[in-house]
Amino acid sequence: MNAIEACNLRKSFGPVAAVDDVSIAVKEGEIFGFLGQNGAGKTTAIRMMTGVLTPDTGSVRIGGIDLLQYPLEAKLKMGVIPENGTVYSDLTAEQNVLWTAKFYGMDKASRKRRCEEILTRLGLLHRRYDLVRFFSKGMRQRISIACAIVHSPPVLFLDEPTTGLDVYSRRLVLDTVRYMNREGSTVLITTHNIEEANELCSSISIIDKGKIIATGTPEKLKKQFDTTRFVEISFDQPVRSDLFEARGIPRAEPWGDKWRVYAENADHAVKQLVDMAEEDNLTILSIATSSPTLEQAFVQMTGGA
Ligand SMILES: Nc1ncnc2c1ncn2[C@@H]1O[C@H](COP(=O)(O)OP(=O)(O)O)[C@@H](O)[C@H]1O
Ligand SMILES: [Mg+2]
Repeated sequence: MNAIEACNLRKSFGPVAAVDDVSIAVKEGEIFGFLGQNGAGKTTAIRMMTGVLTPDTGSVRIGGIDLLQYPLEAKLKMGVIPENGTVYSDLTAEQNVLWTAKFYGMDKASRKRRCEEILTRLGLLHRRYDLVRFFSKGMRQRISIACAIVHSPPVLFLDEPTTGLDVYSRRLVLDTVRYMNREGSTVLITTHNIEEANELCSSISIIDKGKIIATGTPEKLKKQFDTTRFVEISFDQPVRSDLFEARGIPRAEPWGDKWRVYAENADHAVKQLVDMAEEDNLTILSIATSSPTLEQAFVQMTGGA
């Protein structure tokens, strides 16, 4: 069964189609990434999938339950970390988590046990009696996450949970997402950080101007851009660009102290370069072929703007 299913979601704000016919299906156990630049429509999409915003059209199912028809049942299955966390500044770290656990109907003993376990995991046990008001952004975000996962939700939504965090908080947040996934939560996370998506997600949809423009594993998305393969080479002496042309190598660009040669067939390009070096008495100092990065795929798909 799919843990999250969104069908033909649309939402416009005046003339702006913030989400324009988005459909996704996230299998149980996946960490699914919504990757897009600022204003792509990630937050609007996640808000519709978590029942904060009513779609103009379309439907959402969480663990098979229709969110519009049975909002309470569907919401009990999810933990949500919104773009701007919703922690209570006037409560302590522990009170925030315990209060949320109570809201989800957990009994007193499990509330206490789970609260301690999560605060430990998120590196905040020693601050449990302190008011959240005095916490840094990274600490607040960790409390927001503690509240969202206290009831071990089968489905976890996180909207750019690491944006603007310090390195330590970011690491704890990502480790906690992985931990929750191992414990059985299906995760949908939005990010504009390509490396984060690459490192964390089993599957990604790239969203641009309200539309999904590509879906697949990070590796599959990279492979769609095989033509951006290149060979990086350096020689023991300066080389003019017309030397490459004379040897039938059309796309060579200077790159620092090296040259980048773009080619559809890297193997062929390497052989041409070796021949060229031999015939022109050049010594090759280094040579390496490179696959496209997810970033190159992303920039190409979204036009880089
Ligand atoms: N409440 C709103 N009112 C008007 N426009 C909005 C509102 N929320 C989002 N938008 C617009 O919808 C588009 C998508 O925004 P958003 O979903 O926040 O993107 P992202 O989270 O990917 O940065 C943007 O053009 C944004 O300005
Ligand atoms: Mg957003």
